Amino acid sequence: MADGSSETKSSNQMWGGRFASGPDAIMEEINASIGFDKKLYAQDIRGSIAHATMLAHQGIISAEDKDKIVHGLGTILSEIESGAFEFSRRLEDIHMNIEARLATLIGPAAGRLHTARSRNDQVALDFRLWVKEELQKTERALTALIGAFLDRAEEHADTVMPGFTHLQTAQPVTFGHHCMAYVEMFGRDRSRVRHAIEHMDESPIGAAALAGTGFPIDRHMTAKALGFREPTRNSIDTVSDRDFALEFLSIAAIAATHLSRLAEEIVIWSTPQFGFIRLSDAFSTGSSIMPQKKNPDAAELVRAKTGRINGSLIALLTVMKGLPLAYSKDMQEDKEQVFDAAESLELAIAAMTGMVRDMTIRADRMKAAAGSGYSTATDLADWLVRAAGLPFRDAHHVTGKAVALAEEKGCDLADLPLAELTAINPAITDKVFDVLTVEASVASRTSFGGTAPAEVRKQIAWWRARN
Ligand code: ARG
Repeated sequence: MADGSSETKSSNQMWGGRFASGPDAIMEEINASIGFDKKLYAQDIRGSIAHATMLAHQGIISAEDKDKIVHGLGTILSEIESGAFEFSRRLEDIHMNIEARLATLIGPAAGRLHTARSRNDQVALDFRLWVKEELQKTERALTALIGAFLDRAEEHADTVMPGFTHLQTAQPVTFGHHCMAYVEMFGRDRSRVRHAIEHMDESPIGAAALAGTGFPIDRHMTAKALGFREPTRNSIDTVSDRDFALEFLSIAAIAATHLSRLAEEIVIWSTPQFGFIRLSDAFSTGSSIMPQKKNPDAAELVRAKTGRINGSLIALLTVMKGLPLAYSKDMQEDKEQVFDAAESLELAIAAMTGMVRDMTIRADRMKAAAGSGYSTATDLADWLVRAAGLPFRDAHHVTGKAVALAEEKGCDLADLPLAELTAINPAITDKVFDVLTVEASVASRTSFGGTAPAEVRKQIAWWRARN
């Protein structure tokens, strides 16, 4: 902070005589949160305006003082937003910075603002308002990402690609179906966000230090003015609780995990070996030495941000786990974790939305890969069950023999001569070739939630109605 050390030294007139400036400078440094909690200025001012208005309505302060307070807070808001406000580390945090400035601006009336409240309920309010707004932003960002996937899924409902398990070719699926898997994942993230907003929609202000207050405040009035459903019901819990921050971080960690899996797929798909997609120039970088390279840096960074976000969740869980009720200063460490995770998550979702919208799908490459690796072996086995009445286990065995034969001959299942197939099992007829193509395979998977293009289109329509 920009404070001079002379200010620091003179601030400890009570006991500072025998101390060098070192220790109190360090105390100030460890104690101050203004460096990061200034981010809460708008929420702090909104909260104070609602509190002062309620105090006046209840006859706890005069209407005249309330008007001065509200006017002064308005001035401070514009000072902060124009960059004219001077933050002081000596004043510790955003709450005291604003209150001290208010005193300079309006005189003694400023001292009435803190009636019937404490910084403990004040910070709980400011931070909750901030997290709630951040969750609303996250909800909008996820909606945009889901929208991008719905568009790509619609475009590629018929585009065949290999489906994988263990990253080994498993069965053919469509790229549209694969996109819709991400829609489900980010849809769950979004519903977690919505639930969290509902959970945290209670106003902390008026819990005061921890025990409530003897002043005749109206907590329902402040709750309503600040857009909360209702006030919190236990003053001790109110100033001890950081569940809203932990919920934000857990949601962020799960969403980041989804983004990271997508990032990993993008990295794999964009290699020349896979060649399933081409990233746009806007979301890739070149190499300073190897002219041929196009690197998926944005995807890699999204994958890495997951580490930071998970770290923030663990950090705050660890801060909170040993704290006796109610407020302890440890809790000041909540903000940087949430701010950092929020910034990383916003960036990661935006980058992914851009990548998904922009990437080129190489349908020819996907289709070629879909047919390799005997991906229609299950279709052959299923055909033996349906058309020849074999038990599935026997059909599995017969198919295994056909795969071994194809492998020996170096050809696909569809290229095996009928005679050689009937030699394995006499029930096989030339009708079997109808099910051995990748198109026939995906078209046959019509079970609810399956990969058949018609089924995928139904799921797209279901999501369109909800996005
Ligand atoms: N800066 C503090 C925080 O972020 C505000 C609350 C301080 N309360 C207290 N009793 N010292 O947690």
